[in-house]
Amino acid sequence: MQQESKYNSKAKRAARINNIKIYELLNKRNKLNCNEKYVTLSSRQDNSKNSEINQIVEIEFLKKPQYVGIDNDKDLIRENNKNHPEATWIADDWCCALQHIDFSGGLVYFDSTYFSNKSFAVSSLRTTLEFADYPETLVVGNFMLTNPYVGNGNNVFNPNVLIDSLFNDNPAKWRNWNQNFEYVPNYEYKTTKTLMRSYIFYNGVLTDDLVEEINSLTDNLAEEIN
Ligand SMILES: C[S@@+](CC[C@H](N)C(=O)[O-])C[C@H]1O[C@@H](n2cnc3c(N)ncnc32)[C@H](O)[C@@H]1O
Repeated sequence: MQQESKYNSKAKRAARINNIKIYELLNKRNKLNCNEKYVTLSSRQDNSKNSEINQIVEIEFLKKPQYVGIDNDKDLIRENNKNHPEATWIADDWCCALQHIDFSGGLVYFDSTYFSNKSFAVSSLRTTLEFADYPETLVVGNFMLTNPYVGNGNNVFNPNVLIDSLFNDNPAKWRNWNQNFEYVPNYEYKTTKTLMRSYIFYNGVLTDDLVEEINSLTDNLAEEIN
């Protein structure tokens, strides 16, 4: 029998919906344009209604061919391809896979299993932002703010380290996307073992009103999950 994904929790589902609501607010439309894609680190995508792909197809944010799932676990990708052959599946490292996607905007969910305080998280996020440098694109980078394998797992990394390194290390090298992406308020949520933070970037104009609306969305998310 097929195994369920460990990422189909209530918190995870609410976080996905939150990302889509942010996209809708920013772009004033409730679905991807037909030339846009949703690119994500996929893990297992089963046939249940709670899988990421089925959840977002169900709410009509996109059609399956607009979904691009990347994972370095070849077995998972093979299984996903059997479950959802209409979507695109890439078995590769995230940053390498991005080079092979025909992308011209949409939503990129870098839903990582990386610790937010590590330089690897920063460099991978930079690569993601460079790849996604198209107008109206939303990039959500999701990172672990605690390490469940150290001590009691409750020690929270300084959440600003990732953003400070991103914008301050050698800014000239990254000036292309620095000019185009705005850093939007971020949000946190807790899974059973780990505190996660989603850092949000928008390739477009952010008004104060929009920022306020996004803040209230993320406040609601916290209430919904906790
Ligand atoms: C948090 S899960 C994705 C969950 C999925 N977005 C969802 O909502 O159901 C992250 C996945 O990324 C994969 N992964 C971690 N590092 C990766 C890398 N550098 N390249 C490709 N896949 C990676 C892991 O195997 C894991 O399955």
